[in-house]
Amino acid sequence: MAVHIGAVAPDFTQESTEGQIHFHDWIGKNWVILFSHPKDFTPVCTTELGAVSKLKPELEKRNIKAIGVSVDPLDSHKKWIADIEDTQGVKMNFPILADADKKVSKLYDMIHPEWNDTLTVRSVFIIDPNKKVRLTITYPASTGRNFQEILRVVDSLQLTDSHSVATPADWKQGNDVIIAPSLQDPEELKKKFPKGWKELRPYLRVTPQPNK
Ligand code: BEZ
Repeated sequence: MAVHIGAVAPDFTQESTEGQIHFHDWIGKNWVILFSHPKDFTPVCTTELGAVSKLKPELEKRNIKAIGVSVDPLDSHKKWIADIEDTQGVKMNFPILADADKKVSKLYDMIHPEWNDTLTVRSVFIIDPNKKVRLTITYPASTGRNFQEILRVVDSLQLTDSHSVATPADWKQGNDVIIAPSLQDPEELKKKFPKGWKELRPYLRVTPQPNK
């Protein structure tokens, strides 16, 4: 079954390169990026795991933990990590689940048999500290992910969770945002958006990012 936005992220216990992980306990009060890889010792996956390790300071700023999934066993992951560190010039700093029994891959619908019966596609899930799924994306095996885009979505979610706004197309930190159409009370509007706003249409009101 597909995992939908708004659902509680399915819980599991699985082996990883950092020991056994009880997923909901491991999430704690953090945001999580859970992402799957088709296979160990493959070129695109190698670059992705290096790229996410290099993002550690950006993940920490946002209170995010990263965790990878691959259906290869633990001894294979451990050998592969040496290659990742050597070729990508970074120390791996987050766990990869060893999902040889496909427990997690099946739970999160990461195997798309129309593409391949046994390997996972490149799935991404953003999970919030309440353990709710907030984003799902699926990439093809031949396309490495843009992790800046995934960070951008976390930025948007963290902002829109705490202010009555949404973020427009291609938004990034510091750009103008959109006032939630449901917010209509003039006093509340003035209190929440003291910098003012531009009303392009009654449903499209643009304001400077409130927490900047
Ligand atoms: C890769 O990571 O390079 C890859 C993995 C599976 C299929 C195609 C490419």
